[in-house]
Amino acid sequence: MRLSSLWPMTVVKRWKYLRRCLELRGELESFCMDPDFMRQCACRHDDLKLFFQSRLQLRTVTLNEGTLLYDVERELLRELVERSNGLDGPIIEVGTLFGFTTAKMAVWKAPHKKILSVDNYSGNAWLVDPQTHRALTRQFLYYLVETGHVELFDMDKIEFFAGYRGEPPALVFLDADHTYEPTRVDIAWAKRVGAQIIAGHDYSHAFEGVGRAVEEAGGAARLAGGVWVLDNEYWKASQRTVAA
Ligand SMILES: C[S@@+](CC[C@H](N)C(=O)[O-])C[C@H]1O[C@@H](n2cnc3c(N)ncnc32)[C@H](O)[C@@H]1O
Repeated sequence: MRLSSLWPMTVVKRWKYLRRCLELRGELESFCMDPDFMRQCACRHDDLKLFFQSRLQLRTVTLNEGTLLYDVERELLRELVERSNGLDGPIIEVGTLFGFTTAKMAVWKAPHKKILSVDNYSGNAWLVDPQTHRALTRQFLYYLVETGHVELFDMDKIEFFAGYRGEPPALVFLDADHTYEPTRVDIAWAKRVGAQIIAGHDYSHAFEGVGRAVEEAGGAARLAGGVWVLDNEYWKASQRTVAA
């Protein structure tokens, strides 16, 4: 009988890891004899710890978990970003996660348009700790942040809402907390700051509160997968223009 069928998975994983370390002992010993290498390891202790912790968890994840899954969702969001290119104000994403949707919106947006993305790194389906979550997101979005296309706000959305003094946004995409009260608050804020297009994710049976908050705020003018667009003044006016 194989060892792995008797022992819990964590023990088996650790055993395999230890065995691999022993196999590599020759190489490791030569590293350990190098005082510069050891000094750097000691200086970068926190980074290394994060690296090893994340490595063990990231091996088992599904990459797309938590982000937009379906083509129809991406197509509708693309249409919204392209509409927002003709409007004043930034695009605001509430809930960056790892920046996968942020990066897509950055491809679809006009060069002058800025994306502000907010996250407090409180949760992710990869189950990495907040520090790793934050570090990965910064790595993934490094180019877009450095070139000024994206600005990341590392804070709770309520703090961001309270401090927002910018132009009325062209588009707000709400994708943080999918329960009723927080979604209601998010939509109310987007309306208060004069966002033209208000949209979000996870209008579905799994997140009953999102649908309830959207319906109370005017209903969904468009739905694709879990992506919803609020039937607000901007949307009604744009539909009248199309019809005329
Ligand atoms: C569903 S994920 C966002 C997915 C992302 N928009 C995408 O499409 O790739 C939700 C994110 O919202 C963040 N979040 C949850 N509650 C928050 C809050 N109160 N303030 C800021 N961010 C929050 C979580 O840390 C998580 O990264």
